[in-house]
Amino acid sequence: MRILFIGDIVGKPGRECVSALLSAVREELKADIIIANAENAAGGAGLTTVIAHELTGYGIDGLTLGDHLWDQRGFSEEIGNLEKVCRPANLPADNPGRTHLIIEKDGFKLGVVTVLGRTFMKTQGDCPFRCADAKLAELRKECDAVFVEVHGEATSEKIALGWYLDGRAVAVVGTHTHVPTADARVLPRGTAYLSDAGMTGPYESVLGREIQPIVAKFLDGLPRKWPVATGDVRLCGVVLEIDRESGCAVSCDRVERGLTL
Ligand SMILES: [Fe+2]
Ligand SMILES: [Fe+2]
Repeated sequence: MRILFIGDIVGKPGRECVSALLSAVREELKADIIIANAENAAGGAGLTTVIAHELTGYGIDGLTLGDHLWDQRGFSEEIGNLEKVCRPANLPADNPGRTHLIIEKDGFKLGVVTVLGRTFMKTQGDCPFRCADAKLAELRKECDAVFVEVHGEATSEKIALGWYLDGRAVAVVGTHTHVPTADARVLPRGTAYLSDAGMTGPYESVLGREIQPIVAKFLDGLPRKWPVATGDVRLCGVVLEIDRESGCAVSCDRVERGLTL
C-alpha cells in the first residue's frame, strides 16, 4: 500500500500544479491513496467548498488543514458538509469539522489525523502529544494504519512527536513551514518520518508570497497586501510504502516535481 502526501497547496499556482502533475505522479509513484494539506489552497489562506471539490476532483482522497483553516469567510459553516476534509484534532472540541478521516482502498483502512504544534504557533491547540495518543487509541480499533500530520513551526517539536509515536502511527509528517526538509526516514519501530513536506506552490517567493512585499514588511512593518507568487511552481510531498501485514512503513521518500524543473 503506497501513500502520497502532498504539502500545503498554495493558491491558484499550487492548484494548477496539482491539476497538471498529479495523474502522472500518481502513476509514477504507484500511489494508492493521496492526501494533501489544503490550508492555503484558497488565495493562499484557507479553503472553500468549491476549492475542496476542485482538489478532490483531481484525485486527492483526503484534505487536511492547519492554522489557516478559518481564513475564508463562511468556511466554518461549510466544513461539516465536506466528507473528505478534516481539521486539526487538537483545536477546541466545539470547533466544527471532522477530527480525522478514514480512507479505504482495496480493503485497507487508513486513518488520517492532523495535530497543530504549539511551539511558536499563534493558534494554540491542546497538547498535540496527548491528542495524538487519544486519536490513535480511537482509530487503531477501526483502521489498519494511522497517518499523523503535525502542522507546526518547530522541528524539535515535530521530531519529538515522531519518536513519541514510533511504532504506533504509520507516519508522522510535518507541514506548515512551506520549506521541505531533507530528513525523510523510517524510524526503528516502523514509523515514516519527515519534518516538513514543503509546499506545493511557487518557490520563487517567500513561503508562497511575492518576494518584494514580504521584504518590505521586514524593512518597515507597514501593512500591505501579500499576493501569492507565480514563479517556479513545484509539487512537494512524501511517498511511503506500508507493509499491509504489519501496518508498518517500509520506505519514506521525499517527492519534488516541478513544472519548470
Ligand atoms: Fe501552510
Ligand atoms: Fe500553517
